[in-house]
Amino acid sequence: MNFLTIRIDFNFFIQYTNKLQGKQMRIIAISNNKGGVGKTTTTVNLAAALHLLDKKVLVIDIDHQAQSTYHLGYNPNNIKHTVYDAMKGEISYEDIIIDRKGLHLLPANMDLKDIEFLPIPAKEFLLKDALEDLSGYDYVLVDCPPSLGTLTLNALSFCNEIYVPLQVQFLPFHGMYNLFEAVQLVKKRLNKNIEITGIIGTMFNAKKIINNEVIAETEKRVPGKLFKSLIRDNVALQEAPSWGQTIFEYKSDSNGAEDYMLLTKEILERYGES
Ligand SMILES: Nc1ncnc2c1ncn2[C@@H]1O[C@H](COP(=O)(O)OP(=O)(O)OP(=O)(O)O)[C@@H](O)[C@H]1O
Ligand SMILES: [Mg+2]
Repeated sequence: MNFLTIRIDFNFFIQYTNKLQGKQMRIIAISNNKGGVGKTTTTVNLAAALHLLDKKVLVIDIDHQAQSTYHLGYNPNNIKHTVYDAMKGEISYEDIIIDRKGLHLLPANMDLKDIEFLPIPAKEFLLKDALEDLSGYDYVLVDCPPSLGTLTLNALSFCNEIYVPLQVQFLPFHGMYNLFEAVQLVKKRLNKNIEITGIIGTMFNAKKIINNEVIAETEKRVPGKLFKSLIRDNVALQEAPSWGQTIFEYKSDSNGAEDYMLLTKEILERYGES
């Protein structure tokens, strides 16, 4: 029995025992084709809150802007290997993952842009193939870029669920329908298991009528998807990335920290894990 066989058997063992214990690895894309709606902020702070609540969490940054990587305190220009090297099959994801005080990160950098020029077929499955034997995590969160290009399709081929951060404004609300249509196509052609299971209202200000209207419309038109916990407009959430910190490290008494913790507890409750 060689080393590879032992590794595969070990992963099989973990998956088997997880199944026996009813545990499931939740693999969630944080996605919205609209830019600047809070995907990265949500990925990083949801991951941090899950980690604080003793869940084993992996963040995958699949955006060439590498914003989750920056947010967690790493300069992408100084990172030797990224998720892209794993996708190209050049190095195992296990040798790329950064252990950040127990919260794990599969980082990105600008190289991810080159995926468009790779002269190979079925480029949408590179992430899924690279992470075929991934195990041992309770939650895997994938921070997607603001487009429905090859990188996002990789995330949607790999994940089982999508959480959509929705900036509670008129235009982002209508833009969300493009995403719904795209997900139907992905379901047909790439991943029949993928579902939008949650919508997260971001940058909410209770005093703004439009914010409240968008919340009400979302609940009416897409019932059951919007989490009750809304993420308020909060300046600490904007400042935390420049310190390479999560909101819980930067300002644990901020509205941002409170909102992301409440959201995380609501998510765990939904899965019956609280
Ligand atoms: N709840 C909030 N309150 C105030 N500012 C916020 C909030 N959430 C995010 N932001 C800020 O809004 C900007 C966009 O957020 P973020 O980078 O998370 O969005 P994104 O969807 O990942 O963007 P992109 O599409 O470029 O990847 C950032 O400057 C971020 O700090
Ligand atoms: Mg982002």
